[in-house]
Amino acid sequence: MSILITGGTGFIGSHTIVELLAAGRELVVVDNFCNSKPCVLDRIEQITGKRVKFYEVDLLDYDGLEKVFQENEIDSCIHFAGLKAVGESCAQPLRYYHNNLTGTFNLCALLSKYGAKRIVFSSSATVYGNPASVPIREDFPLSTTNPYGETKLMIERILKDIYEADHEWSVSILRYFNPIGAHSSGLIGEDPQGIPNNLLPYITQVASGKREFLSVFGNDYNTHDGTGVRDYIHVVDLARAHLKAIELAETVTGVDYFNIGTGTGYSVLDIVNAYEKATGKKIPYKITPRRPGDIDMCYADPTKAYEKLGWRAQYGIEEMCRDANNWQMKNPNGYDS
Ligand code: NAD
Ligand code: UFG
Repeated sequence: MSILITGGTGFIGSHTIVELLAAGRELVVVDNFCNSKPCVLDRIEQITGKRVKFYEVDLLDYDGLEKVFQENEIDSCIHFAGLKAVGESCAQPLRYYHNNLTGTFNLCALLSKYGAKRIVFSSSATVYGNPASVPIREDFPLSTTNPYGETKLMIERILKDIYEADHEWSVSILRYFNPIGAHSSGLIGEDPQGIPNNLLPYITQVASGKREFLSVFGNDYNTHDGTGVRDYIHVVDLARAHLKAIELAETVTGVDYFNIGTGTGYSVLDIVNAYEKATGKKIPYKITPRRPGDIDMCYADPTKAYEKLGWRAQYGIEEMCRDANNWQMKNPNGYDS
């Protein structure tokens, strides 16, 4: 029996595949390459010595996706496929709703039809909106501020409704905090197109000389040094949480929600300092105005993931910076290098 991995050539999917293959799991991977490259499959093979079974399929193509179910014995799914850029989602809401929601509808219809009623879904800490306090627990109120976040919250609710209607389902919702870093081999990592939106990819490009300086978006937040605080998590730790989640899904039915973070918040300037310490590279920066929509602080209480999944993060911030830097130095132009 195989686990279907949607969006498997993306940043988090590729790292998860490496961990699942190491655990001896059988996989079938689908992606339409709208935000990733075919050579990721070669890199995964270089790391693991295994070639995963892959289909270039768009989740919006129901018939194309059904062929994958017909040709394989799928009994569960880890669902990464989705569009994820907050700013772009505000500019192109229909595209985001259509891709993320319709893709999930097609997927769930087929999982149900082929009796594979186990899904681990990539949600996000963005569903907590601007939390009233930190650390954030899974039972905090939910709200969103942009179409991307709205798709995550809507999918969470849809998956819950699917379970309510059919108790054979097992649904694990993983709410990721801020995934960064890369596999220690430097063969797979985050490959943003154009100017990076997120902090770490921007810093790595400053470190490699591709960009002149980092813009620190605001230093008047209500935090220890005025810059925004987030819960950064090594992508390999995050990947391992999926293995635990799928193992749990194989033994229980129901719907459950897990924060996947370290439980520690770091400010933008903490990250700059950690990066400099881990790599010996200077990161020039300038304080610039706030980025609209950013919040002061966001970090997880990850207790539930430890208690119910037996998962906790192993890597610290210096290892995250070291591995992100290693990936960037070995692949200055991402997978096109
Ligand atoms: P990514 O863009 O690197 O990977 C997503 C993959 O899905 C890409 O390879 C893309 O080509 C594929 N895809 C998108 N739409 C598709 C479709 N209709 N059919 C087939 N394939 C499709 O993103 P990532 O960082 O690996 O994120 C994976 C998931 O985790 C996403 O759902 C994202 O929203 C969620 N998430 C990411 C973060 C983050 O900061 N990276 C944080 C919270 C949640
Ligand atoms: N920041 C800068 N300069 C930059 C980029 C970011 O100062 O060039 C700051 C931001 O203001 C924020 C922190 O660095 O304080 C982190 O910003 P990111 O863009 O890296 O991450 P966010 O927390 O804003 O958002 C990320 C994902 C979202 C997801 C959210 C919660 O991009 O998709 O985490 O999971 F919803």
